[in-house]
Order: sequence, then C-alpha cells, then structure tokens
Amino acid sequence: MGNKKNIIKKPGVKTLSIHHGETFSEETGCVMPPIFSTSTFKHGNKGNFDYTRSGNPNFKILENILKSIEESKYCTIFGSGISAVTAITSSLKSGDKILCESNLYGCTVRMFDKIFKKFGIQVLYTDLANKENLKKIKDFQPTLIWLESPTNPLLKVLDIKLICDEANKYKIPVVLDNTFSTALIQKPLELGATLSLISTTKFINGHSDALGGAVLTNNEEWNSKMLFSQKALGLQPSPFDTWLITRGVKTLPLRIEQQTKSAEIISKEIANHRIISKVFYPFNQKHPQFNLAKSQMKSGGSMITLKLNLNKSDTFKFCKSLRYFSLAESLGGVESLICHPATMTHASVDDKTKNLLGIDDSLIRLSVGCEDTNDLISDILFALNRF
Ligand SMILES: Cc1ncc(COP(=O)(O)O)c(C=O)c1O
Repeated sequence: MGNKKNIIKKPGVKTLSIHHGETFSEETGCVMPPIFSTSTFKHGNKGNFDYTRSGNPNFKILENILKSIEESKYCTIFGSGISAVTAITSSLKSGDKILCESNLYGCTVRMFDKIFKKFGIQVLYTDLANKENLKKIKDFQPTLIWLESPTNPLLKVLDIKLICDEANKYKIPVVLDNTFSTALIQKPLELGATLSLISTTKFINGHSDALGGAVLTNNEEWNSKMLFSQKALGLQPSPFDTWLITRGVKTLPLRIEQQTKSAEIISKEIANHRIISKVFYPFNQKHPQFNLAKSQMKSGGSMITLKLNLNKSDTFKFCKSLRYFSLAESLGGVESLICHPATMTHASVDDKTKNLLGIDDSLIRLSVGCEDTNDLISDILFALNRF
C-alpha cells in the first residue's frame, strides 16, 4: 500500500482560479500581483519581456490561470473578445473560406461580412444544429469552421464533438466561441476544437469593469499565429484591465455556481406566464437540444432568452420596468442584465437574416447575476404582471 498522504492530487478549479505560481511575489511577498504598468522592458530580463504590445507579466499571470482551468497548452490574451476574433480571422488569406454556424454574435458577423469579405475571404452561414448540414464541411471545404454553443442569443446547442470529428477528417480547424459557457461548463479543446475563444469581458472577469479576450489551443502553430497577431496588429490588452480580470477570475467558479443555479430555477418559475410565449434555456426539457446539452454541458449556464407576447414598445416597457436587471449590452457580470438583441447585440445583422433566425422585436435575453434568486424571480414576475 502506498502512502496516500503523499499523493499530490491535481488541484480543483476553485484552487486553480486563485493560485497561479506567484513568481511575482518572490522579492516583496505581495499576495496580489502588482500592475506592471510599463510599455517597455530592459533587455536581458529573466522573463524575456520586450515591449508590452508583445507581452507583459500581467498577461502571463492571466494566461497561466486561463490555461490551467481550460487544461490547454497555450493561451494568448487580447484587448477584447472581438480582438480575439480579429486575431484568428486575420491569419487567413484571400480566397480562404469560413463555414459558420448561422447564429453568431452580431459583431462577429459584422466583422466577417463588412471587413474580411472585402479582403477576399468567403463566408458561408449554415444551421449546424441540423445534422444534414454537416455535409457542407465536405462540399464547401472551408479553411476554418466557426462555432458558438450555446449561441448568442438563441442558445442553440451544437454537437461540438460531432462537428469537430467531421472537420478533423479533412484537417479543418474549428473555432468554438465559448464565451457563454467558459471552461467550467464545457471544454471545447477536449471536444475536438482547435481553438477555444473567449470574451473575458464577460464571465471570466465577472464585474463589468474591463474588456478582454483570449484564445486557447494545444496547437503550437496556431499559438505562434496568435502571438504574432497580438503584436503585429496591436491587439494586446492593457496591464490594468488584465489585472482587473485576474482579480475577477478568482471567483469565477463561485459565481458560475450561483448564476447557473439561479438561471435554471428562474427558467422554470417563469415559463408558464401568459406573457411568455417561449423560453430558450439549454437545460429546459423543451429545448430542442436538451439531451445534447445535458451530455455536453455541466450546467445550463446563466443566460436565458425569452419570446414575449408583446409588441416592440411594450417589450421595451417591460425591460425598463425591471428593478434588478439593467437594460444594457454585455453579460456574465455579478449584476443581472437584460438586452434586446434585435436592436442591441445584433443590430448590425441585416433584417432578413434576423427574421430568418427569429431574432425579432419580442425577443429578450437575460444574463442572470449573483443576486438572490427569489428577488430576481419576483422582479421578472412583477414586471410581467403589469401587462
Ligand atoms: C459570444 C460572444 N463572442 C464575442 C463577444 C465579443 O466580446 P467583447 O465585447 O469582449 O469584444 C461577445 C460580446 O458580447 C459575445 O457575446
């Protein structure tokens, strides 16, 4: 029998989110990292730092934490989620093709359609929840496949492993935007994705006071491309924002636990209200991909989308009459938010596409925060009962 006491177990995610090899504290003993507010570094330093556009001790600290919770080899951080999208897409060349899930975050679609198409990149959108459409991987032979799951704002769940297995047959890299879930709910690289993208502005930071993005991968070549994009395109974050996100991520597991527990309860409690015609929530039994969501995700997440039996003006009245849900862009913070995707996050998507997807004026998206669940339920029911 071995000595059980001496076996060092792999730390849990709550530990990994807090401890990150505190090399910065060797001389001073500081428990929290300082903000390395410097644009440049003296040549010959131990960390091999050169210029903050291509790396900074604050970046390293956050990258190490994100790598450890995602269990990836590499991580590169950026100034925003959209900078991370830019970093990946700009590594393509004219004539390359991206096959995308039809429901993506509006600004990702805007970047593909308004910027990268200009440079000769072809983009094809298709409903990848429909297995029939997987044959487009073989037929279209894209250079890259772009997924979100659950999608923004319809919370459609894609079979990540199935899509990656198909893509891997043709050696096509897959990007999974994991902003809505984080590695705590699903790990894209384990499911076969080449790149896991995350807007750290949202759940990772959790306090709505900084912007950031990250790309995680196990592929050395893609890691070099990300480091190159960070410095060549000037996509780096600021040391201060990175420091804030490093502080925020320490409570990520606790926040996610509370937020997802609340969201699942709320999605059930409000489902039968006469003003709600449809609830979109991955762990709702009526969700079209309920079984897949249950097998792919550790929890249903803390985003809920609702279709209301109200016209546009009453939908806005409802949004503005809530006490704890602020009508605002963004998601994933400790405070609850509500958003009207058709005129906010997806305003840049053309009307025809929005209609086809079902992003209409009666659709609203909730980001459930860390407030008491009962307060949030009462808030929503009180606002609904006014109609
Ligand atoms: C799914 C998704 N990806 C990317 C982004 C972009 O992130 P950022 O706002 O940090 O640029 C967002 C922003 O809402 C998002 O919802």
